[in-house]
Amino acid sequence: MDTIIIFDLGGQYTHLITRRVRDLGIYAEILPFDVKLDKLNNINPKAIILSGGPNSIYEENSPKLTKEFFQFTFKNKIPVLGICYGHHLIMYHQGGKIESKKKKEYGKANITILKSELLFESLEKEEIVWMSHGDQITEMSEGFEIYAKTETCPIAAYGNQEKLLFGVQFHPEVSNTPKGNRILENFIFNIAKCKKEWKLEGWIEQTIENLKGEIGPVKKVILGLSGGVDSSVVAVLLHKAIGNRLHCIFVNNGVLRKEEEIEVQKTFRENLKFENFHYIDAEDKFLQKLKNVEDPEEKRRIIGHTFIEVFENKTIELEKVFPEIKFLAQGTIYPDRVETSATSSVSAKIKSHHNLTLPENMMLEIIEPLRDLYKDEVRKIGVQLGLPKEIILRHPFPGPGLAVRIIGSVEKEKLNTLRDADEILIEEIKKAGIYEDLWQAFCVFLPLKTVGIMGDFRTYENICAIRVVESVDVMTANFAKLDMDLLEKISTRIINEVKGFNRVVYDISNKPPSTIEYE
Ligand code: XMP
Repeated sequence: MDTIIIFDLGGQYTHLITRRVRDLGIYAEILPFDVKLDKLNNINPKAIILSGGPNSIYEENSPKLTKEFFQFTFKNKIPVLGICYGHHLIMYHQGGKIESKKKKEYGKANITILKSELLFESLEKEEIVWMSHGDQITEMSEGFEIYAKTETCPIAAYGNQEKLLFGVQFHPEVSNTPKGNRILENFIFNIAKCKKEWKLEGWIEQTIENLKGEIGPVKKVILGLSGGVDSSVVAVLLHKAIGNRLHCIFVNNGVLRKEEEIEVQKTFRENLKFENFHYIDAEDKFLQKLKNVEDPEEKRRIIGHTFIEVFENKTIELEKVFPEIKFLAQGTIYPDRVETSATSSVSAKIKSHHNLTLPENMMLEIIEPLRDLYKDEVRKIGVQLGLPKEIILRHPFPGPGLAVRIIGSVEKEKLNTLRDADEILIEEIKKAGIYEDLWQAFCVFLPLKTVGIMGDFRTYENICAIRVVESVDVMTANFAKLDMDLLEKISTRIINEVKGFNRVVYDISNKPPSTIEYE
């Protein structure tokens, strides 16, 4: 299968480039920019894309490539496309000059295309692109041709057909470059001559076959099922591969959304006919441990550790009855893996959201069938596997659950108040037909008492904050500009129907600088 390698040079869009390439039907993978040439040689990529990055080329320690790398791509006729920092990097190594501009160029720009073939085939003479840089190329090396310019950036794109090196100063991978996909297509299909072979349909059958082979006819598998998309898809894949030799453990940690434990059990036990679905009600245990804990990181730690404890105990109990349990399946997906292992030393450090990893001393072999997939690919597979839409399209929910949506200490009464409000919010958002357009929508419990009036009585209750955001890649998010009438309806219903809140506020902060969650 044709593969395109994306070099991680520390930019925020590395994953986005990879996803775009996969969407175009080519398998793409991220590697550190200083990967050994032997490894590249084994992969035998059809093309390499150099991502953007936060550095300036002349900064000490900024990521650099090697002469041998360019010899390798030249010898093997592998086209290389540099984006933003990658665009500078190619030119730097080829002997061109890059200068820092005092004024950073950020946002939409008009480019004039000077060469309407290769990268820019089928584009208009003038196009809109998204710029984000402080440096630009001021001198090109021999053999390179300018493909596009803007008013302030005379070398906005270049190419060298003999060496198969190409660069764009702007970001074709972001949606703010309307013809960006076309540019990537031109690179992938016209220049790199890739064949569209990356399809998810074949992936499912192949993965089920692989799982059967790996697990064999007798051994059993244990899986921590949260009811989220990733673990649910893993569960169904495994169930198809080994049937009831799959044991799922679902832990009610007391900080789930309203009736979540009932819905998950219904889906897997009743609808999907999982026989070995083990429900553990550990609500009291978790809430006991969370008592009077106010620090968010402490809450996370407690919930994480308690989960592992409960999970381990159940596994040990099951192992006594089923000694054939030899594997632990996990719903790890590609960004979890790539972000936590930070593909290269320059990867901008991203807050890791520690999808729970279980202790190594469990002596179980790990199975991660989704390890190479992105979330949207997992969702597509979920649809094809027939998982209910409610699971596939459900908004992300943090592992520490409602505990990080209650500021300060977590108690049952607050949890119930928050659950009721959250249910109303989601119900109204679904009724308005916008649930699927949103990244997340949830309520937050602010233990701040303010005065209200209900009938003839003064009330003194807490504040419910509503957080609704749109996002594509979770790194950035904007608050949703919800319709005022809808907000009014939500607010009225929460105040009237939920005991414990007498005021509702709408959060109008974007990420960054605010995060999506409150804690
Ligand atoms: P922030 O708040 O950093 O959240 O903008 C980004 C995404 O991560 C989710 N999130 C978590 N997920 N454990 C998780 O499994 C956590 O501790 C955690 N904290 C935040 C959040 O819901 C959002 O989708």
